[in-house]
Amino acid sequence: MGQGLGPGRLGRVLISRGEVAARVGELGRAIRRDYTKRSPLLVGVLKGAIVFASDLFRAVSQPSGLDFMGVSSYGAGGHSSGIVRLTSDLSVSIEGRDVIIVEDIIDTGRTIAYLRRNLATRHPRSLALCVLLDKVARREVEVPVDYVGFAIPDEFVVGYGLDYNGFYRNLRDIAVLDPTAVS
Ligand code: PRP
Repeated sequence: MGQGLGPGRLGRVLISRGEVAARVGELGRAIRRDYTKRSPLLVGVLKGAIVFASDLFRAVSQPSGLDFMGVSSYGAGGHSSGIVRLTSDLSVSIEGRDVIIVEDIIDTGRTIAYLRRNLATRHPRSLALCVLLDKVARREVEVPVDYVGFAIPDEFVVGYGLDYNGFYRNLRDIAVLDPTAVS
């Protein structure tokens, strides 16, 4: 995200904090059911997934682990180049582990395609993906998604970990940024 840019202006709430909490609870229960007697490692993708990953981790409420990876994709003018780079790595080995990648949003699919390839080389026992928001219309790379919170339209959304110029990650609702007021 660019430095010194403004916060834009918030538009309507797309998904309220109550709807988010209810869905995260359902996803946690689904994971708990699917991973009975296993101890999955949740891998949150920095920074957008920090809020979702910490809520989901508590919703799973069974012996499980949480770790984070940082990735960035950038190009001219701050737009995604499609080239994804690892900026910070896991702190543990995932060999033989049941890994669930936890993402806040899938857009083109490039970040998750890169992460799946990268993590698969480390020989986990299984590798799944849980994403809160899926912007289906923007997909350029097909990636299998195991758990989806909400399919959303192609609008710029912020809140619950998602930012615009670094703003709004700590907003409790997920809202649309007013496209007529973007600075
Ligand atoms: C967002 C999001 C995903 C990625 C999805 O990250 O958290 O990692 O974009 O886009 P893609 O499907 O087109 O690859 P962003 O680059 O905004 O960084 P952030 O998580 O640090 O905000």
